Amino acid sequence: MYNQEFQKSLENLKKQNRYREFIELARISGESPYALNAKGEKIIMWCSNDYLALGQNKEVSNTFKDAIDKYGVGAGGTRNISGNSAPLVKLEKKIADFHSKEAGLVFTSGYIANETTISTIAKILPGLVIFSDNHNHASIIEGIVHSGAKKHVFKHNDPEDLESHLKQYPKSQKKLIIFESVYSMTGNIAPIKEIVSLAKKYNCLTYIDEVHAVGLYGKGGRGVANQLGLEKEIDIIQGTFAKAFGLVGGYVSANKEVIDSIRSFAPAFIFTTAMPPAQAEAIIKIIDIIKEADDLREIFWSKVKLLKQKLKDVEIDVFKNPGHIIPIMIRDAKKCKEVSDKLLKRGLYIQPINYPTVAVGNERLRVTINPNHSEVMMDELVKNIKSLL
Ligand SMILES: Cc1ncc(COP(=O)(O)O)c(C=O)c1O
Repeated sequence: MYNQEFQKSLENLKKQNRYREFIELARISGESPYALNAKGEKIIMWCSNDYLALGQNKEVSNTFKDAIDKYGVGAGGTRNISGNSAPLVKLEKKIADFHSKEAGLVFTSGYIANETTISTIAKILPGLVIFSDNHNHASIIEGIVHSGAKKHVFKHNDPEDLESHLKQYPKSQKKLIIFESVYSMTGNIAPIKEIVSLAKKYNCLTYIDEVHAVGLYGKGGRGVANQLGLEKEIDIIQGTFAKAFGLVGGYVSANKEVIDSIRSFAPAFIFTTAMPPAQAEAIIKIIDIIKEADDLREIFWSKVKLLKQKLKDVEIDVFKNPGHIIPIMIRDAKKCKEVSDKLLKRGLYIQPINYPTVAVGNERLRVTINPNHSEVMMDELVKNIKSLL
């Protein structure tokens, strides 16, 4: 039924070079950054968000396996109905402690954490006005749309523009500023200090998405707000267990009242089966590792710096940023896909990033690194990209 309509929507996407192809891959435990393609050939991944390769860490997988033997694979219900397992409660305390907050709340993904927390806050605070950075992630945008709240989108990383929106409202107006610490497609870092100071001036709640920062930035990988000594100034810190943590799941941490309200009212927290307890145990192990992983972070950051330098040396157009993400600017959707396809044929995988993830004309290859990428691999990557531009 309605098949023609579905087909038409796909044809439209294809015409605009926006049709997404998901490349079938099989990761090989213990051999990161290698993976197998659909033909069983080894390729090198250059776009994984498993930034520290903890997704294949032996200690973590052993903890996961032992916990499965102990608890089984599933949670058995929602948090409300038999799913409130001891490891989850422990994980939430760990997350609160990680971010120096009073409480934490765990979700099945970072996307869900953003979408449901943001829409729920607006329901708890009727009349709330939301101020959102122009580059915020889809999960934040969806949260704002579902909140039904009035919103102002401020220019990316632009406190002056943010202030021009904030000053339209009296101090008594309830306001929420939402931004990310490290932006996933550019590697830009937010002016957190300036945003926090505006929040104080205009009486706003603050919400930061540290999805791409936790594990990599700050003391023991606690994120950019921590790195700048501003963790306590931010009301709600959101993060994921899916990027540098290497697994899956999301969270928010804040004071007791905020967390208890979200726990009590958020539909995507209440009405969904809880994270499996074995997964929570594995994440607890990951947090313990991450807090002590300065050596691993040092290797990671030295490799980010080295690859950026190698790309610069051969004049490849890399978007300049202070972060760990390395966007290679192609600036054309068709070419971006072609370069990605050709690289894959040469055993190098970087997915093309096209509209709507980035604006038309800003198409790019988003390169990420992990501590297992060698200098020889980097040289091979640089040589191959250069030959295709
Ligand atoms: C900035 C940002 N926030 C949230 C998410 C969602 O996190 P998760 O992958 O844990 O659902 C992503 C995912 O890529 C992201 O880039």
